[in-house]
Amino acid sequence: MSAVAERSLDIQRNPGVGAEVRGVDLRRVDDALFAAIHRAWVDHAVLLFRGQTLSDDELIAFSRRLGPLDFAPVQEAGRRFVEGHPELYVVSNVMVNGEPIGSLGAGEAVWHTDMSYLDDPPKASLLYALEVPPEGGDTWFCDMYAAYETLPEDLRRRVDGLRLKHDGTYNSGGYVRQGVEATDDPRRSPGAVHSVVCTHPESGRRALYLGRRRNAWLVDLDLEESETLLDALWAHIARPELAYRHRWRVGDLVLWDNRCTMHRRDPFDAASRRVMHRTQVKGESRPAP
Ligand code: OGA
Ligand code: MN
Repeated sequence: MSAVAERSLDIQRNPGVGAEVRGVDLRRVDDALFAAIHRAWVDHAVLLFRGQTLSDDELIAFSRRLGPLDFAPVQEAGRRFVEGHPELYVVSNVMVNGEPIGSLGAGEAVWHTDMSYLDDPPKASLLYALEVPPEGGDTWFCDMYAAYETLPEDLRRRVDGLRLKHDGTYNSGGYVRQGVEATDDPRRSPGAVHSVVCTHPESGRRALYLGRRRNAWLVDLDLEESETLLDALWAHIARPELAYRHRWRVGDLVLWDNRCTMHRRDPFDAASRRVMHRTQVKGESRPAP
């Protein structure tokens, strides 16, 4: 329990999942305000703060309030991270000197949760919009508590206790991660194995933890059986009524919980510019049933 009295926040729920928090300048967050933000984050899983003006240092400083940061994942090409800031992951289609300055290009990024191919995936990600295209590039979030809770009884019984291999070959844009040899056999690909139903360490609620569809494998089943069951699970989660569609404006910061949500991104016109900076906060415990 915190000794700090929590402040009340101006919170507007999103359709689907998450909420917008109004009237907060993330450069000025005292302990009482942080306690309220943290509570709102555990309750809503995705928080939007509009109208921010954050330098990289300020983005990192606010992110650190949630815990120590992970270094950015290895990018598919180009710079590995922002000079001097190994914790910043750049999501961008912008090219400089023939090299992309960030990851994921301008195409679709498929449903995923961040870095679940690691044994200790980050609990949170914070994505900050520096430049956005006039249209497209919306990011969708879905609620994996609701995905679990609304599973038909027979499916829920079948997945309970199963373990899932999360692939580390491809990122959500379909690009092969740097230093990885491409393979489409999930039995041989790099990755991590986690329980497919996890209990959230802060909320105590159970959520489906699916990572990415490509190269996924329920390791307790043979591949064919695993494919059938995974298809059924993914058909269940990829429903718009469980999702919030975020239309970005410059200055938006979205903080999400990787343990109980997934996200995907719409494609956008490759001729327009989109520049986002992301941090990721270390998980405190491995995903566990
Ligand atoms: C991410 C991500 C999608 C987007 O930063 O983790 O998946 O909308 N981004 O840029
Ligand atoms: Mn992501």
